This record gives sequence, C-alpha cells and structure tokens, in this order.
Amino acid sequence: MSVHAPNVVILAAGKGTRMHSDLPKVLHPLAGRPLLLHVLETAWALEPSCCCVVYGFGGEKVPQAIGDGRVIWVRQGEQKGTGHALMQAQPHLTTAPVTLVLLGDVPLVSARTCHNVIHHASNGHVAILTVELDDPTGYGRILRAFGGEVCGIVEERDATPEQRTIREVNTGIMALPTARLAGWLDRLQPNNAQGEYYLTDVVAMAKADGVRVMAVQTQHASEVLGVNSKADLARVERLYQKRVAESLLRQGVTLADPARLDVRGTLRCGRDVMIDINCLFEGEVELEDGVQVGAHCVIRNTRIGPGTIIQPHSHLDGVQIGQGAVIGPYARLRPGTVLDSQVHIGNFVEIKNSTVGVGSKINHLSYIGDATVGSQVNIGAGTITCNYDGAQKHRTVIEDYAFIGSDTQLVAPVTVGEGATIGAGSTITRDAPAGELTLSRCKQLTILGWKRPRKKDH
Ligand code: UD1
Ligand code: MG
Repeated sequence: MSVHAPNVVILAAGKGTRMHSDLPKVLHPLAGRPLLLHVLETAWALEPSCCCVVYGFGGEKVPQAIGDGRVIWVRQGEQKGTGHALMQAQPHLTTAPVTLVLLGDVPLVSARTCHNVIHHASNGHVAILTVELDDPTGYGRILRAFGGEVCGIVEERDATPEQRTIREVNTGIMALPTARLAGWLDRLQPNNAQGEYYLTDVVAMAKADGVRVMAVQTQHASEVLGVNSKADLARVERLYQKRVAESLLRQGVTLADPARLDVRGTLRCGRDVMIDINCLFEGEVELEDGVQVGAHCVIRNTRIGPGTIIQPHSHLDGVQIGQGAVIGPYARLRPGTVLDSQVHIGNFVEIKNSTVGVGSKINHLSYIGDATVGSQVNIGAGTITCNYDGAQKHRTVIEDYAFIGSDTQLVAPVTVGEGATIGAGSTITRDAPAGELTLSRCKQLTILGWKRPRKKDH
C-alpha cells in the first residue's frame, strides 16, 4: 500500500433495468468474466487502502459470484441512487485522504486513468473524469460556469433541451476528499426525475463549499463507456476484443481478421503464430512458436507445443499437446488429454483423460477415453474404448507400436501389448499379447443360391 493509497468504492447494487435480465447487471459477462471483476482488477491495481463494493440487487449472488475475500462487501438494501449507495460505504472507509468512486458498469477504465483522477483530487479537490462523446445520450452532462469551471452535473432526465446538447459527460468516476464526504452525503436530496439520491449532486455542493472541482477529461472514450443495455454490452465487448487483437498483432501474431477473434481469458503466443478467422480462446491458453490455428476453433485452458497445427472446427478443452502435432479438422479433445509430439488426431475423434505417445495416429471417427496410448501406435477408424460399465470408469492401455484395426471395441480394463495387432472389427475383452495378431470375429459365411425376398405382384 502506497502512502497515498486511496479508498476505492465500487457501486454495483443496481438492477440494470435496461438490461431486461434477472442477472444483476454487474454479473453480465464481458470477455467471459463478470463486469464487476474487470472493475475490481483495476481497483486492486491501485493498491487501495480499502476496497468496498456496494451490492444489492440479486442479493448474495454478487459477492458469491465474485468470491473475493479482500473486498469489504456493503449491502444497499434498497437501490435509492448512486449517492445513497456511497452513503452505505462511507462508514467503512479508512481515513485515506482520497476516496475514488468507480462504477460496476463502467468496466474498461484503466488504472492509469484512475491514478490521474486521484492525483487531481489531492490537495482536497474533487476530481471528476469526463469525456466528450459524439452521442451523449443517457449520460449525465457536465455543467460549466462562464469561466469554464465545472459547477454541476445534470442527469439526462433532469436536463433542459439546451443542457442535453452538451457533449461533455460524466463518466461516473470521481475522486473526493474523504473527510468531506459524510457532510455532503448527508445533504443529498432526492429532488429529481427519478426520486433518487444522486452522487453527482455532490459536485454542486463542493462548489458551494468553495472546494475546487477539477474535470479530468479523457481522450479515450472507449475506456469509459457505461453498460446500461445489451447493446452497450455488445459494444464494450467488441472494444475489449479489438484491444486484445491489437495487442496480439503488436506482438507479431498473424490474425486472419482481427475483428473475428474472441479471447475470454489470457492468450499467450510465441513467435510466428497464425490464427485463422472465428476462433474463440477461453481461460488460459498458450500457443508456442509456429502454432497454426485453423478457422472456427474453440480452445480452452490448453497448451499447444511448437509447430503444431490445429485444423478448422476443432474443440480443445483442458489439453496439452507437444510439438509438431496435427489435430483436426473436427477433433474434440476434452479435459485430461495429453498428446506427445508428432501425434495426429483426425476428424470426428473424441479423446478425454488420456495420454497419447510420440507419433501415434488416431485419424478417424474414434472415441478414446481413460486410455494410455504408447508411441507410434496406429488406431484405425471407428475404434472405441468402452471405458464405462455403467458404474465405474476403467483404463485401456495400448502399448508402443500397436496397430488397432478399424471398428474395434476395446472393453476396459484391457491392455494391448507392445507391437500387437488387432484385427479389424474385433471386440477385445481380454489382454492382447505383445507382438501377436488378436482378433474376435465370426467366420465369414456365404449361403449359395440364397434369394432375396421379393414383394408379391398384385
Ligand atoms: C450514472 C451517473 C451519470 C453518468 C453515468 C456513467 C448518477 C446519478 N448518474 O448514470 O451521471 O453519466 O453513470 O455511466 O450517478 N448503483 C448502485 N445503487 C443504486 C443505483 C446505482 O449501486 O441505488 C450502481 C449501479 O449498479 C451501477 C452504477 O451505480 O453500477 C451506476 O448506476 P446506473 O443506474 O447505471 O447510473 P447511470 O444512469 O448509468
Ligand atoms: Mg450506468
């Protein structure tokens, strides 16, 4: 905690009426994580003296979903406005000179911008973060006196037609002298169109008390957009994704189309990584040098080794892959899949909780679950590990250099020995010895002269 560490209060109790949803607004996901979590991340980056989150609508859902023990959670029983929300937090604040207010529905503001606002509030001033928007609809407008000094904020619903033409708006982010806060909040009145206690009224009070109000205008409109509707949420999501794509491009990643990439988590890329269109990355994903990801892949919590190629329409979740592997198209790799180098997995192959050794190939239409597959193994089309007996899961072991003929069922627990060959169409229920051919198959039969039944003539 630095000497001037501020109090941070995040207002997050509102219902978000305009979202038309039962989910509290601040829990709606941006890049796969609740809006509030993005704001909290920024708050922690400020190393605050304390961090209060005011919650209310949705009850305990909000603290439960966020699950952050460092937060001082303050409940606002009834949502009577942003000023009323801050009143609830005020008794929990430390004596830190500055209190920074963030809104749970303004998720993209950077720590740098917050620092700037805090800096302007030192010496007992009030600092508000403002922005000029081409379309200011829905935001509180900044009122300035003749000298240009900020003298108030008027909400759109309370504004005169003339005030509505003002394009400088309140971002909702402000820094206030903590010692003055209780006095100002006490004096708030719900005399407005919404009958709410507006935090924004504090600005005119400060002015009346002779406190300077500094407007810190940001040039980064994209940082301070508020989310009040699903349209806003979609807009903010696109902005977020654009930033991620731009950062990847700067690092040297080739993106077939930066507008058709979604990252919901962290994507780390080595050199010369190529990503085709419409790929979705979730959780923690790492693509090492030279990885190529084809179009329409969904990749979650996965690490992919150098030079590996993921062909289009593949779905990977909780997977580790070595170098030089070729996966897909249409592969489905589920949690616990560990593939060594040079492995080939083809179309319509599902693998879960299994390891596959160097250079092994499973190229078509197979299900491999709870298996240990050695190296240089070839698994033919339509091979199924029957790993579940209705109560328990069992393992299949396939040792190095084994060859599994097409359309084989391996009924686990079962082991196929090193270099063994399984004849196509077999149901293997007992261990197959190393180096030998094992098959289970009815003898082929031909009935000479047999005639197909024919429909009766009428
Ligand atoms: C607010 C500002 C407006 C600003 C805009 C920026 C006020 C009166 N208005 O308007 O000047 O331009 O943000 O996005 O402050 N909240 C509570 N308790 C409540 C009401 C709201 O915690 O009783 C929380 C909400 O969860 C939300 C935030 O405060 O995260 C802002 O509330 P919202 O209703 O979205 O205010 P806006 O109309 O956007
Ligand atoms: Mg809002």
